[in-house]
This record gives sequence, C-alpha cells and structure tokens, in this order.
Amino acid sequence: MIVLGIETSCDDTAAAIVQHDSTGLRVLAAARATQDDTHRPYGGIVPELATRDHVNRLPHAVRDCLQHAALRPEQLDLVAATRGPGLSVALLIGHTFGKVLAAALGKPFLGVNHLRGHIISPYLTPQGAACLGQPAVCLLVSGGHTLLARLDAQLRITQIGATRDDAAGEAFDKAARLLGLPHPGGPHLAAAAMQGRPDAFSFPRPMLNEPGLDFSFSGLKTALRVTLERLRSTSSGLSSSAAQLSVADLAASYQQAIVDTLVGKTRHALQITGAAILTLAGGVAANTCLRAALADMCQSLGVQFLPAAPEHCTDNAVMIAATGALLHQVGHTSTLEEQVEPRPGLH
Ligand code: KG4
Ligand code: ZN
Repeated sequence: MIVLGIETSCDDTAAAIVQHDSTGLRVLAAARATQDDTHRPYGGIVPELATRDHVNRLPHAVRDCLQHAALRPEQLDLVAATRGPGLSVALLIGHTFGKVLAAALGKPFLGVNHLRGHIISPYLTPQGAACLGQPAVCLLVSGGHTLLARLDAQLRITQIGATRDDAAGEAFDKAARLLGLPHPGGPHLAAAAMQGRPDAFSFPRPMLNEPGLDFSFSGLKTALRVTLERLRSTSSGLSSSAAQLSVADLAASYQQAIVDTLVGKTRHALQITGAAILTLAGGVAANTCLRAALADMCQSLGVQFLPAAPEHCTDNAVMIAATGALLHQVGHTSTLEEQVEPRPGLH
C-alpha cells in the first residue's frame, strides 16, 4: 500500500510518501520545510505565524512528494495526517488538508498521534525494521514531550514514565535562551557544549534517586538561572573570550545533567521491564552526547540499541505515513468527522 503522510503539529511543514508491503516500509519521497527563520526573531514559536506558513507550504510539499515518487494522487491508498498533540491551529491545517484530499480521492483517511509517530520512527532503519514486533522500551525525548514507553509484540504502546513538568527539549531550549543562544536552542546548546567541560559546573540530576520512571526538568533550568546570576554578579570585568568559555562550560555541564538523568531513568525502565531492545526517538534523540551515553549503557546491559536515524528524529512526515500504514494494516481508520486532539498524551 502507498501512504501519504502529513505533519503540521508545530513548526515543521512536512509531507512524505511511504510504501508498505511484505518486505517492509520504504520511503518513496519526503519533503520538510522548517520555520526556524520565521520564529527566530521571537525566540520561540508564534502559533499564528506557524499556521500561515503551513497554509503556504503544505500544498507545495505534497506536490513535490508526488512528483518525486512519480505518482498520481489516485495511486495513493491511504492519507494519514497528524491529529495531535500539538498546536491546535497548526494541526488543523494538515489534518483538514488530509481529510479533504482523502475525500476527494475516495481513499481512506487516518489521523495519527504524533507521539506514536515518533515511537515508530526508529523502525525506519533496516536494523530497526528487523526488530519490529519485538518487545522494547522507547525513550521519547522531544520539544513538547519526554516519556518512557513499553512496546509489546503487537506494537501496543504503554506509557511507563513521563515528565512532570518541562520536556527535555524544552529544558534545552529554555537554557539556550538564558545563555543567549539562538532559536531553536537544543542544537545550538549542544554545539556550544562541544567546546566545554561537562564537570565544570554542578547541576542537579532531578528525581534520579527517587523510585519510579518520571522525570522533572524545570528545577534544572532554575539552577542554571541562579548560576548565571551568580556568575554575572562576580564577573562583570571578564573578557569576551572568558565569557564564551563559561557559556561552553555551562552548556556542557547542563547537557550532562540532562543526559545523566535520561540515562539513569532509562536504565531503570530496562531493568523493570526486562526488555532486550531500547529505541530512542524525538528531536533530542539527535543529540550526540545522549546517543553515545545510551549506546554505552545498552552495551553494558547487553541490550540492543535502536536510535532513530538523525533525519527521522525531529518532526517529519515519514513517521506519520509509516505509523498510518502499520495502524491501517491492523484495521484502524478515521472518519471525516474526526477532530484534531491537541492535548498532550498517547491518545
Ligand atoms: O521532536 P521535535 O522536532 O518536536 C517536538 O515534537 O517537540 O523536537 C524538537 C526539540 C527542540 O526542543 C530542539 O531544541 C530539540 O528537539 N533538539 C535538540 C537537538 N536537536 C533538536 N536538543 C538537543 N540536542 C540536539 N542536537
Ligand atoms: Zn515531535
């Protein structure tokens, strides 16, 4: 079956066409337009501007995918679009576009949960495809969500831990803003951290010594703000190179605190569930420090590590098309009356 996927839950406009058959999932085309330039002047995402960009860019993204795959719209077997969670005004654009296209073509439509899409994304690599259907633990770390989930043999997904406040990506983004780094903060903070020492400053590892699989990152951001205020009050005469050095050290130490916390809770989840596979998904999964630390931990536990490919970590439509294909195979469809579901969660 050939599936068109559409993703407009936040600030990326994406479309993709995926083929699913007995040999597995194959990406025929993928288009993605980021809105980083649109939102950079505001230091964060402005919903009205995100919506306007989706309206302008989505028709081009879909047309480009069809052209690249050399397909006519009638050759699509299913249209899948992100239903939520996300910004409601942004979700409405892709979800409505998908419903209208499916209705016009007389093809089925499927609204897909964005988090389930992320959780399926590690299975898009050849190594991942071979593990589809085996019990696994997934660490999903994105800008809006941080959770641990268990996947069973039928690909049923159960949440076993989640953040109680900020998501890991949000913790990166808010810290980057405090350090004066550009939007989107995560990759910039990670780049600054490469030049710094992870043990230069001491930041808390929230909830690491508490039982359970929940996270909390809001205190970490407060610890960074307090450290910055202390540094600024004592170092007003610092040269600019010394100031740059301390930004790198702060970034490296802060990143290490997030990574240690994620690794510690994930280790606990693997021990509790006994799963032999760990998957990693979401925008923060692109972080090389986190990938390396989880790979080490998996090696020490004898667990197979399956991170999503870097191009499938941040929001994309390939994961939506692939999830649509897998869900449709087991009988899921949506009606044209389906509404977007912006609230957080694996609904
Ligand atoms: O999954 P995603 O594209 O969007 C959501 O569904 O939230 O994740 C975006 C998040 C942002 O917070 C961004 O700063 C973060 O992923 N991110 C990173 C890196 N690349 C993206 N965080 C840390 N290190 C990175 N290399
Ligand atoms: Zn996402």
